[in-house]
Amino acid sequence: MCGIVGYVGARPALDVVVEGLARLEYRGYDSAGVAVLADGELATAKRAGKLVNLREALAEEPPPAGTLGMGHTRWATHGAPNDRNAHPHLDCSGRVAVIHNGIIENFAALRSELEEGGHKLNSDTDTEAVAHLLEDELKRGGDLAAAMRRVCGRLEGAFTLVAVHTGDPDLVVGARRNSPLVVGVGDGENFLASDVAAFIAHTRDAIELGQDQVVELRRDGVTVTDFDGRPAEVKEYHVDWDVSAAEKGGYDYFMLKEIAEQPRAVADTLLGRIGADGRLSLDEMRITDQELREVDKIIIVACGTSYHAGLIAKYAIEHWAGLPCEVELASEFRYRDPILSRSTLVIAISQSGETMDALMAVRHARQQHAKLLGICNVNGSTLPRECDGVLYTHAGPEIAVASTKAFLTQLVAVYLIALYIAQVRGTKWGDEVFAMIQLLERMPEKVDKVLETMEPVRELARSLANERSVLFLGRHVGFPVALEGALKLKELAYMHAEGFAAGELKHGPIALIEEGLPVIVVVPPRARDVLHDKIVSNIQEIRARGARTIVIAEEGDESVAPYADTLISVPAVPTLLQPLVTTVPLQVFACELATAKGHDVDQPRNLAKSVTVE
Ligand code: F6R
Repeated sequence: MCGIVGYVGARPALDVVVEGLARLEYRGYDSAGVAVLADGELATAKRAGKLVNLREALAEEPPPAGTLGMGHTRWATHGAPNDRNAHPHLDCSGRVAVIHNGIIENFAALRSELEEGGHKLNSDTDTEAVAHLLEDELKRGGDLAAAMRRVCGRLEGAFTLVAVHTGDPDLVVGARRNSPLVVGVGDGENFLASDVAAFIAHTRDAIELGQDQVVELRRDGVTVTDFDGRPAEVKEYHVDWDVSAAEKGGYDYFMLKEIAEQPRAVADTLLGRIGADGRLSLDEMRITDQELREVDKIIIVACGTSYHAGLIAKYAIEHWAGLPCEVELASEFRYRDPILSRSTLVIAISQSGETMDALMAVRHARQQHAKLLGICNVNGSTLPRECDGVLYTHAGPEIAVASTKAFLTQLVAVYLIALYIAQVRGTKWGDEVFAMIQLLERMPEKVDKVLETMEPVRELARSLANERSVLFLGRHVGFPVALEGALKLKELAYMHAEGFAAGELKHGPIALIEEGLPVIVVVPPRARDVLHDKIVSNIQEIRARGARTIVIAEEGDESVAPYADTLISVPAVPTLLQPLVTTVPLQVFACELATAKGHDVDQPRNLAKSVTVE
C-alpha cells in the first residue's frame, strides 16, 4: 500500500518520478505528491485523488527543474485522503521532505512530544512526525542518513521511508522495516521504489533491501547499512521481465490484459519444473526430500484470492500427498494458538510477497519452529526471504488490483507441490504422478479455449449490471471457486456477492433465494458422479424457488442443461484441475459487469494491490 519512488541522476527528476508513480498507482490512489530538489531548494506539489490530479497541478504550475526527487501515491491510513495529508511531508524549516508507506504505531506519542517541543505539525498523518524527528536529529549533527538511522530506532510499526534534505543535494535516503523497498541500479543514476515496475524502463538491475536497513542513494553509488550504521549484505538481482510487461499493450485495462495472459502465465509456471524423465524437480524449493518425508501436517496461510488458492490446495494435497492440510486466513492465524511443530510445513501464498498479514503469519510459524515454504510472484519481495524455501509463480507483473493470472499460477504451484510431495513420499505411483503432470501441461491450451468462448459471458454480465446481488455456489474445489467469483464481483462491481458450499445452502442461505436472483453454479465434472448429481439437485432446488440459474459445467454435460437459464461450457478436465478453467469465466464476468457500471476495474475504490498494513 502506497507507492514510493526516489531518484537521483542526470535526468529531470520530475519526469522520472511521475512516470514511476504512474506504474505504482495500483498500490494506492487516494492522493499523489512529489518533491524535487532544485538550486538548493525543495519544491513540492501534492493533490488528493488519482495521479491525474497531480499531473494537472504540475502542468499548471511546473516546479523548478532538478535531478533529484521523490514521489508518493497514497492509500490512506492515518488522516483523510485530502491535499493536506498527501505526501511528501515537510519539517518546520521546509528543508526536509519525507514520504512513507506503512503505519508508525507510536505516532501519537511522537507527535505529542514534537508539539511539546515546539514543532508545528500541518497534517493528521503519522508520517509527518518523521520529518520533524529528522529535523531534530539533523540539528544534533551528522548527515541525513545518520539522522534517519537514529529516527528509525524510535519508530514502531511498519515503514518504508524516503527522505531528502536541502543540505545534501546529491543524496536520497531510504529506510525499510516490514514494507517493501527496492533499489534500481543505473549508470550515473539510481532509483528507489516500492516495486521494480517504477524504474523498469530505465534499469533491470536491482538490489533487494533487507529488514531494518537504511540505503543512501547517490548519483554514483548506493550504500546500505543496518540501523546501527554497520554495512549490510544485500542481494543484487536482474529483473527477468521488461517494460512492455508493465504496460497495457493495447488493452483498455491491465485486468483485461492479465486475464488474457493466463495461458502463458500457466505455461511459464510449469516451465523447467518437469524433467525429461517426466519427474518433477523443484530444487529451488530449498526443502530437502528428507525434510518433506518428515512432514506430518501442512498449514496454508494466505489472504484474499491467495487464500482461495490455498483452499483448493487442501484438496490436492490431501488427495495426492495424503497429508492432513489446514488452510487459515493469515490475519487470523497468529491471533490464536495454532499447534505447530518441527514436522509442520507452513505454506504461505502471496502474489506480492509483501502482504503484512501473511508476513506476520510466517513469523509466527517461524517462532514455533515450523518449516516454511512460500509461493510468491515477486522476486525480491519479503516473503521469500523469510521462508526456508520458495516456489515462484511466473505470472509476470500483476498490476490490476484484482488478482487473476496470479491466482491461476498459484494453483499451478500448489498442484506442483502436492504432486512433488506425492512423488517423494510415494503416496502415488510414479505413473499416476506423470499422468497428472501431462494433464497439467495441457492446461494452458484449455484456458486458452475458455478465453475464446467468453463473449456470451460478457453479454450476460452486461445484462446483469443493475442487479443488487449475485450468489455463487460450488462443491469440492468448486466451492473456493465460488468464493473467488464472489470476491471478484464485490471488489470490482461493488455489489453484494456471496459464495457458498452448495451443500450448505439448505442450512440457511437458501432463504436468500427470491424470484429472479442470479445464482452462478460451478458444476464438478460428470466423472465425479456423486458430487455432480448432488449439485444438479441443488440447482433444481434453487430454480424451484425462482433463482435465475447460470451454470458453469464441462462441455457435453447435458444433464444440467434443463435446469440452466444460462449454460457456460468449459473444457473437460479432471476435478482437481477444474478451477483453472472454471475461474476464468467468473473473472471475465466480474470485469465486464464492473466496466458496464462505469467502474475503473484496475483501481477499485478503497483497495490497493499490496496490503502492507495489518
Ligand atoms: C483480490 C486480491 C486480494 C489479494 C490479497 C492477498 O483480487 O487481489 O484479495 O489476493 O490482498 O494479496 P497477496 O497475494 O499479494 O498476498
